[in-house]
Amino acid sequence: MKLLTKEIAVKTKGLIRSFEFGESEVYALNGVDLEVYKGEFVVVLGPSGAGKTTLLNMIGGIDLPSEGEVFVGEENITNYTTNEMNTFRRNEVGWVFQFFNIVASLRAWENVGLALEFQGVKDKHEVRRRSFEELKKVGLEGKEYRFPSQLSGGEQQRVAIARALVKNPKILVADEPTGNLDFVTGQSIAELLRELNEKEKTTLIVVSHDISITQYADRVFHLRMGKIEKIEENPTDNGTKKVRVE
Ligand SMILES: Nc1ncnc2c1ncn2[C@@H]1O[C@H](COP(=O)(O)OP(=O)(O)O)[C@@H](O)[C@H]1O
Ligand SMILES: [Mg+2]
Repeated sequence: MKLLTKEIAVKTKGLIRSFEFGESEVYALNGVDLEVYKGEFVVVLGPSGAGKTTLLNMIGGIDLPSEGEVFVGEENITNYTTNEMNTFRRNEVGWVFQFFNIVASLRAWENVGLALEFQGVKDKHEVRRRSFEELKKVGLEGKEYRFPSQLSGGEQQRVAIARALVKNPKILVADEPTGNLDFVTGQSIAELLRELNEKEKTTLIVVSHDISITQYADRVFHLRMGKIEKIEENPTDNGTKKVRVE
């Protein structure tokens, strides 16, 4: 049974992101207000062009809104200086992408270790130990020395998930994490994300057009044309009822 608190991990207020397009403006986000609770697994579901990537980029500190605010924990990240934003991205957010974005010339464990090196972890033994530990958590024990080309797509995504989680981020954000995988492999990645969310209590925000991933979420936010149309709560969690605590 999963206990959900009402403590807020991520909040957006009146989020607008527009892009100039010739003479006109395109509104990728057109007033998004959302709250995600600590430890929650949220899926933002929407068709292509709905604004999913744009929304995730705002929450993950990759892009700034045209209007509105983003809070992660207590912090209003829209007020951050460039330096503060860099630190936030490096330490507080784990990113997972559709095309894995792992380095082809580095072994699995070195890809994971990179996240720690970026954080300034100097001790080589610590980098190695923590990278191996994280790869074990994602089911890649024994494959630490493989290069990406020696791993399947699903395994490469597992490396990317380990790299995102090794720094113990406040939030994990994933942009179409199953989008480049066949159905069965995609489901196993969604299951892994759910398992890690439950075990590590990491707040997880996944954006996707893939409806099959929504069964693993605590709540589903439907995004369409830059707006949240409706929010659905999954009533059960692996057959057991979920309990909200205040
Ligand atoms: N950098 C950009 N410049 C211009 N238009 C953009 C840019 N990024 C996104 N858009 C537009 O914003 C809308 C939402 O895009 P996006 O967030 O990528 O949607 P999704 O991830 O849901 O497919 C689309 O119409 C897209 O063309
Ligand atoms: Mg997208």
